[in-house]
Amino acid sequence: MTDRLTITTAAMASLSAAAATTATTRLLPSVTASASARLSYRSSLSLSSARSSPLLSHRFLPQKSSLRRFSSGGAGYSTVSSPKCAASSPEQLKSAREDIKELLKTTFCHPILVRLGWHDAGTYNKNIEEWPQRGGANGSLRFEIELKHGANAGLVNALKLLQPIKDKYSTVTYADLFQLASATAIEEAGGPKIPMKYGRVDVTGPEQCPEEGRLPDAGPPSPAAHLREVFYRMGLNDKEIVALSGAHTLGRSRPDRSGWGKPETKYTKDGPGAPGGQSWTVQWLKFDNSYFKDIKEKRDEDLLVLPTDAALFEDPSFKEYAEKYAEDKDAFFKDYAEAHAKLSNLGAKFDPPEGFSLDDSLPQGQPEKFVAAKYSTGKKELSESMKQKIRAEYEGFGGSPDKPLQSNYFLNIMIVIAVLAYVTSLVMN
Ligand code: HEM
Repeated sequence: MTDRLTITTAAMASLSAAAATTATTRLLPSVTASASARLSYRSSLSLSSARSSPLLSHRFLPQKSSLRRFSSGGAGYSTVSSPKCAASSPEQLKSAREDIKELLKTTFCHPILVRLGWHDAGTYNKNIEEWPQRGGANGSLRFEIELKHGANAGLVNALKLLQPIKDKYSTVTYADLFQLASATAIEEAGGPKIPMKYGRVDVTGPEQCPEEGRLPDAGPPSPAAHLREVFYRMGLNDKEIVALSGAHTLGRSRPDRSGWGKPETKYTKDGPGAPGGQSWTVQWLKFDNSYFKDIKEKRDEDLLVLPTDAALFEDPSFKEYAEKYAEDKDAFFKDYAEAHAKLSNLGAKFDPPEGFSLDDSLPQGQPEKFVAAKYSTGKKELSESMKQKIRAEYEGFGGSPDKPLQSNYFLNIMIVIAVLAYVTSLVMN
């Protein structure tokens, strides 16, 4: 890879922590179980993040054998990579989301962040059960070996943009950060709210990256069949293929990256962001249904239509959805949001297993708490027959909608009953 990523201060700190830890191990080769248990959470974090950082060559990192010396009773990595640091903390994810919003405002990198999230998740193979061999949203795209896959050309720039945020929030995993960045970019570009969950665990080394060739080609001999082959392998269906392709409402294709598109058009020559490339839509930083409208109308030579985009209006099953989305933006937004959330979960291992949401305090999958007030203050209108019934009972007591009952009406009744009870007891005696 020609682009070399800068080693940040945080990464350097992690590196020195790792080096210090290795040195300690060398000085004290017989670290006992209790001593290993005393290792602070902070240093175990630095160590694990240093090991999994794509920024650091493996030559500088403690090897598995030295890490093992910290584990208690030969129980693998239990002390070093405790479950606590396997997945992101909600608070840090929320702060990271604010930083991503700032990044979007200053660099207009919405499209490439969406593509990054999609390419991390889109390697998923539903026919492989084991994690991480099955691929998917596991952060493997941070490693050079996967960034170098032909389909990922240019995505190193997205990783460079996110790395400072990753360095700032030590508990946030790459797998979560990539998906958080993508969903935030869609929402900030005017797209639908994506029902995301978090807690994805990262793969730890480049040897866990999927093999090249799992992502779709833009110009295969039979585009519709190819799309089905690739997306069905991910467990996605025709509706989801069409809805997700609508993400091309954002961004541009660059001949120097994918080989597709013009070097520049009237819509891209001035940026924003690095100028150039060919977009699918006129306003390529705005998320709406214009991708479907523009392909349908074929109205401008300056707008891109890849063979796989064209297939959406040629294949009878795809066409049904593409036509619908061109007409109905709300239908597109609804289906897109569902499909995007599904894509972002493909192949992911969550900790806790059900994941968690950032938008309410309830973990996913838990039933909503019963709130009586919610049901008693609902705006639902009473039916006419119910209104009549209530009116009849009300009038039976001498009230009417125009003449409300006296406030002491029930008090009087209670006094009468009490007097009657008293008199009865006197008579009985
Ligand atoms: C259906 C199969 C797909 C094919 C064949 C395909 C192909 C491509 C190609 C060739 C590019 C241009 C890359 C470049 O030159 O920089 C691109 C960009 C992009 N793709 Fe796709 N893609 C597909 C599906 C998706 C999906 C499912 C998503 C998201 C859910 C997506 C999101 C994007 C975005 C946002 C860009 C613009 C990136 C930028 O401006 O930097 N694509 N895609």
